[in-house]
Amino acid sequence: MITIRQERPSDQSPREVLLDRAYGAIRFRKPSQKIRAGRLPAEGLSFVATHRGRIIGTVRLWNVSAGGKAALLLGPLAVHPDYRSRGIGAGLMSHAIESAQRLGHGAIILIGDEPYYCRFGFSAAATGDLRVPGPFEQRRLLGLELVTNALEGARGMIAGNGSRIPATDPRHTPSASPARKRPRAA
Ligand SMILES: CC(C)(COP(=O)(O)OP(=O)(O)OC[C@H]1O[C@@H](n2cnc3c(N)ncnc32)[C@H](O)[C@@H]1OP(=O)(O)O)[C@@H](O)C(=O)NCCC(=O)NCCS
Repeated sequence: MITIRQERPSDQSPREVLLDRAYGAIRFRKPSQKIRAGRLPAEGLSFVATHRGRIIGTVRLWNVSAGGKAALLLGPLAVHPDYRSRGIGAGLMSHAIESAQRLGHGAIILIGDEPYYCRFGFSAAATGDLRVPGPFEQRRLLGLELVTNALEGARGMIAGNGSRIPATDPRHTPSASPARKRPRAA
């Protein structure tokens, strides 16, 4: 049975291995990684999918300022290649969106493929005046308003504003995985 639950500290290492498998080293050079760098995920909004105790999917949400408007940045979302097209990505997305709504957040932003994320209500309609650090394709910057007009007037740079990772905390950093040496985020 596939289970979706809150991420635990012990999930960190297998989660990093999963992300390496799903994205490769390019994940450290993505604009969204620049927004997340040095920050902890939003409280209560990191989830994993498991099968027989194995981590097979992951999604996190991060507190950001979207041109001055409070929002969440979603990502990375990944499902292990052996488990794709079974609705696990959709399950993680629905769980993340419902949890964010329950916690009172107004909007979620992500950078990704509209043909996949449109099924969850994401579109570029309210993100046209937003920017992310570094080169990006505007059509891939997508938003979902959980509260009507939460992104209205959102204009400018998206910047992480969640809690900073304590200097002594080895979690939530790419080097946390013992599996291999990783390149630093660009
Ligand atoms: C994207 C991802 C999380 C989907 O996980 P999943 O568990 O397979 O998702 P679901 O089962 O809910 O949906 C699968 C469907 O989405 C489609 N899909 C997957 N990625 C897609 C994309 N980038 N654009 C459009 N459709 C996509 C699949 O073809 C599949 O279609 P089908 O149902 O007709 O077979 C997974 O493919 C993954 O980890 N990819 C690598 C990381 C990545 O690219 N993530 C971000 C996507 S922008």
